[in-house]
Amino acid sequence: MADTKKLTAEQIAEICDLMRRCGAMMRAAHDVERNAGDITEKPGSANFVTVYDVRVQTALIDGLSAQFPEAAFLAEEKENAANAITNGLCFVIDPIDGTTNFIHDMKCSAISVGLFDRGAPVFGAVLDPYRDELFTAAAGEGAFLNGVPIRASDRDLPHALVSFGSSPYDRQSLAESSFDVLKRIFLRCADIRRSGSAAVDVCFVACGRTDAFFEGVLSPWDFAAGGIILTEAGGRITDFSGVPIEPGKKSSVLCTNGSLHAEMLDLINQ
Ligand code: IPD
Ligand code: CA
Repeated sequence: MADTKKLTAEQIAEICDLMRRCGAMMRAAHDVERNAGDITEKPGSANFVTVYDVRVQTALIDGLSAQFPEAAFLAEEKENAANAITNGLCFVIDPIDGTTNFIHDMKCSAISVGLFDRGAPVFGAVLDPYRDELFTAAAGEGAFLNGVPIRASDRDLPHALVSFGSSPYDRQSLAESSFDVLKRIFLRCADIRRSGSAAVDVCFVACGRTDAFFEGVLSPWDFAAGGIILTEAGGRITDFSGVPIEPGKKSSVLCTNGSLHAEMLDLINQ
């Protein structure tokens, strides 16, 4: 089998420029368009799409397909072929992760772009346009925040900040178990956080601001890029049974600094 694709520094810079241009679109978002009237709802509870989700996704797919004509796309706001990610080069894109935050002008949302070659991680980038923070990682080459190397923390659970996702779109089936787990963890760690953007949550574990993150169900675009960044920063990502997540699949997600992983799995599965 041919070697896994590696991006050149120029290709990475071009992807990052495109993401920054999309980030500027988000920052300039007009209240009238961000709010009522232009919001549509997807299946699941309170699962919204704004015109900006669609605009940013179109800009990303147009720009990336001009740069990589051979690549397929698995993206939040379109129909996706089931096996695109295992067939060849495939971008996994969340145009706005944290759409509900975006609608409420919370200024905590991110653009997430992961690249896989026949299912193997190649590159991940997550841009928080409000803090102007760009997290990047190429497989085997470490993780960076605005070009500066980052590492996951080495905190133990009593000192850990743990972020949590409420699985809002699946609340009917998951609320009870999610909040039971949250309570068990809250009683053992320093404190709990809920940002509203899973991509930001995963990157915060990667750079050591928080020490773990978990959510009962996420779509692949929520954590694809972040997972590459976290792994390259020395952290660990699995599903709730401790198994690596199949690329391109919906899954429960546990991200940790590595040393907390076994203890967090125990607490989740009690
Ligand atoms: C959502 C956010 C949120 C998480 C949800 C995700 P979206 O993504 O990451 O933090 O709790 O599970 O679906 O829908 O805003 O792109
Ligand atoms: Ca998302």
